[in-house]
Order: sequence, then C-alpha cells, then structure tokens
Amino acid sequence: MSRLFLLISILFISPITIFAQDIPTDFLSADFHKSRRDAVRKMMPENSVAVLFANAVRNRANDVDYVYHQDPDFYYLTGYNEPNAVLLLFSEEQNTESDKAYNEIIFVQERDQKAEQWNGKRLGIEGAKSKLGFDVAYNGSEFYKLDINLLSFNKILFFDFENDFRDTRDTADLYDLIMNFKDKVDYPSDYNAEKQELYTMIKSTDIANSANVAQRLGRYLKNDERLKEDVLLTGYVNANDDDLRKEFKGKIELELDASNLNSVIISEIMRTLRETKTEEEMVLLKKAVEISCVGQIEVMKAMHPNMSETEIQGVHEYVYKKYGAEYEGYPSIVGGGNNGCILHYIENNKTKVGDDLVLMDLGAEYHGYTADVTRTIPANGKFSPEQKQIYDIVYKAQEAGIKASVIGAPFQAPGKAASAIVTQGLMGLGIISKAEEARTYFPHGTSHYLGLDVHDKGTYGPFKANTVVTVEPGIYIPEGSDCDKKWWGIAVRIEDDILITEKGPVNLSAMAPRTTQAIEAMMKKTSPLDNFELPKL
Ligand code: GLY
Ligand code: MN
Ligand code: MN
Repeated sequence: MSRLFLLISILFISPITIFAQDIPTDFLSADFHKSRRDAVRKMMPENSVAVLFANAVRNRANDVDYVYHQDPDFYYLTGYNEPNAVLLLFSEEQNTESDKAYNEIIFVQERDQKAEQWNGKRLGIEGAKSKLGFDVAYNGSEFYKLDINLLSFNKILFFDFENDFRDTRDTADLYDLIMNFKDKVDYPSDYNAEKQELYTMIKSTDIANSANVAQRLGRYLKNDERLKEDVLLTGYVNANDDDLRKEFKGKIELELDASNLNSVIISEIMRTLRETKTEEEMVLLKKAVEISCVGQIEVMKAMHPNMSETEIQGVHEYVYKKYGAEYEGYPSIVGGGNNGCILHYIENNKTKVGDDLVLMDLGAEYHGYTADVTRTIPANGKFSPEQKQIYDIVYKAQEAGIKASVIGAPFQAPGKAASAIVTQGLMGLGIISKAEEARTYFPHGTSHYLGLDVHDKGTYGPFKANTVVTVEPGIYIPEGSDCDKKWWGIAVRIEDDILITEKGPVNLSAMAPRTTQAIEAMMKKTSPLDNFELPKL
C-alpha cells in the first residue's frame, strides 16, 4: 500500500466507520420498508390517510422498563425501532403551496444528548431521512401542530387503542401523540372497533348467507353487553327473514360509510401484506429458524438427567445470542415430564428433568423475525417404549400436516390431517375410546402464520406461495388422566416451520433431528458443555 493511500485511508476512515464494522448490517433495507408503504398505499381507499403509532414503552417495576420492542406493523413499514413515533400514509400525494408533494410523514423522537447518554442513540429527523428514507420527518413534539385537517379525508385508517400506555413527563410521548390524534379526529369516547368489525362483516355477507351469519352473530352478542345494545346489530340478528336482514344491512352500510374513522381496513391490509413474505424477509426468517435449530441440536448433545429446565433454556438462548439474535420471539417453554402438558409453560423451574421427556418450544428472534420450533427429547438419551409410541403418533400426524400445507389448501388442512392421525393413534393405544375424546389430549390448533410475530398476521384463507406456517401437533397426557397410568406425564409436541412454495412445502427447520432414531443418535454426540463445570455456590 502506498504511503499516500495509507494517509488518505487514515484520514477518511472515521471512528464511526470503524465502529460500524462491528455491528450487524443485515437488516431489512430502507427500500424494503418503502416498498411496504407503497403496497399499503395501493390498498388504501381513495382520499384516505393511515395513522400508525409506535409500540408503547412498558414498565417492569419502579424505574425499570421492559426491553423495548417495536410494534411489528410499525417496524414493517418504517424500520424505526424507537418508541414515541407516528407514521402518516396518504393514499394520494399531498401538496402544500410552498413545498413539494409528499405522500408520507414520520414523527420521531427528538435527538437529546442527555437522554441519549443514558438510554442510547436516537435516529432523530436526520436519521429518519438518511437511514429510513423518509423525505418528510418531524419531531414528535410537532405532531400537534400538524397543518393537515385529518377530518377532510374520507377515511382515517388506524388501529384502535388498547389504552396500555403511560403518560410520562415527556411532552411528546406516545400518550401525548395519541391524545393529539384523538383531538384531531374528534375521536368519540364510545368508539367501538369491534362493532365496526361486525358491521363490516355484515356488509360483506351476501343476503343468501345472512341467516347463517345472523345466527352465529346472535351467539356472539349474547356475551357482550355493549354490543347487545346496538339496535342495528340486534335488529339484524333478530330479523326473521331475508328482506328484513337486507333492510338492516342497508342501514349498517350507511352507518359505516358515514364514519370516516376506520380501524378495520388497516387490519385487513396489514394481514394481507404480512401473510406472504418477500425474499428479503425470508433471509432473516430462515436465519432465525436455523439459529433455533442449532439451539435444539446443541441441547440434544448437552442434555442429561441432572439438568434443570432453566439450564436447558439457557443453552438454547446462549446459542441464539452467539448468532446475534436479539431476543426470543416469545417466552421459552422447557417442560420436563408432566410440565410439558402445560401448553405455554414458562416457569421452567424444575431442578432436575430426570428420565422424563423434555418438551422444548423455543424460537430465536433475528432482526425482528422469529422462529417457533419444538422438539421433545428423552433426557436420558433413549425413548421408553411408551414415550416412543406416543412420539411416533405425533410424528406421523405432523408428517401428514406438513404434506397438507400446499398452495390453495384451506388453512385448516394441516390441522384436519394431523387430528385424524392423533385420534386414530390414541384409539389404537386404548387411551381414548371415542373420537371426540381426542381433543382432551390434543387441545390446540396445528398451525399459525410465522414472521415478525410468532403468531403472525394473515388472512386465514387458502394457502398462498411464500407463506410460512408452523405445523405443530401434540399429545399431552397429564398425571391423573382417565387412561392407563403408564401414559401419565407423557407430553410430546413436534413443531416445524414450513414455507409454502409452488413446489410444495419446504421444512425450514428440518436441520433439527425429528425422528426418534435421529434424536437418539444426536444425543449420543459429545457436547462442548460436557466439561463445563462451575463452582458450587
Ligand atoms: N410457541 C408458541 C406456539 O407454538 O404457538
Ligand atoms: Mn407455534
Ligand atoms: Mn411453539
């Protein structure tokens, strides 16, 4: 290297560039997020504005908050990972007299040296422009001054509020942003998003099918005092012929059209977009799944009967961190024996797993995308005959579920295929005598979408290409069940993450051993943790 070149290099490689090399760079691109905003705009009704808010900061105790996690929709559309922000998307370009046209605005947290010294860097307006690709960005404190009449839009699309945020001393926190929004749109104190959902459902129901829908709705309204009071809903439910239902449907449509506040359309849009993944998303989702599989493999090698549930959890999560996964996508589930029968068991506090099966349902979250992989393994390295019999039924059910995960099949197809095999298997072993009893031992669904959320958004319509779903049948036989004692305390779930493609289902988590033979073989391998001794405390 010439001296001159060396000098130029030293002058131009700033400390920021040097540090930048030490942080991950494989995040979704600003172009990805922009393309998603464009996709939302295309689906928005004419002359509408969508207003989305960042997730709330939630308090853990006293002056300690939970680690902040962005709202997945907000992240999908912006890439912004800080709280106290609001995004406005306009269906058409907006013009102000002096400025150039724009079709989106983001309000972000203001840069603040003191706050950043304590709690980390903020992107601020400049970062929102240069890193996130927004042309128009302001500080949150300017939101209340926004010189656009939101009520002039035919529709204002927003997610209704869960009211689980706090007002802090910051005058531009989420609380203030939401209050400003409510003021701007004359948000009624009795706004009822659920009522709007039901109105929308009635609007999209053909009169030919209205008797069915009215009947279902009637059962639903029975348990809801507020909805029961709505004259249009009860009128529709109690109408005894199609003509009367048509009349109420007409009134409901008028009412829906009259309101410009709408929290149903944006849900539909986000559900539709997030159901199928782009190539860029798949890179991250596959990485999350692979990391989780390595976690399962390393635990299989390290497992022994003296391990505690927490320790097993720790090994999985260490592997996640080793690969740079920021979080777990949901609280880790590690249940030995009977604990595996609690579907979302997260206490993980049994001190020795002994000779039981250990059900391990964990997923790494990598740059926002989460895996969801379950393996059930014998702590002592060998399935007992009873454990193996139950395991093999679940395995066969899962194989059938995966095979049913094809383009065009109804969302329920894997569940139906898996349930049939579980039912047949339980009857074959004499654990149940009637098919209806299978639900006692397999009480959950078989599939959900996977992505930014572990239970990701989707339409629940027929399967589409580039969708990722889980296939996760299980059999859980708690102590005291109405069957032979030899089955008690056996709990098995096998869960894989399946990409639906033109060429059929692809098991993204196939790397983690799944058959009893493959698991036992993996458990025979040595682990770097075999000699990991810590002092007794
Ligand atoms: N880990 C949660 C689930 O399997 O749905
Ligand atoms: Mn799952
Ligand atoms: Mn799971």
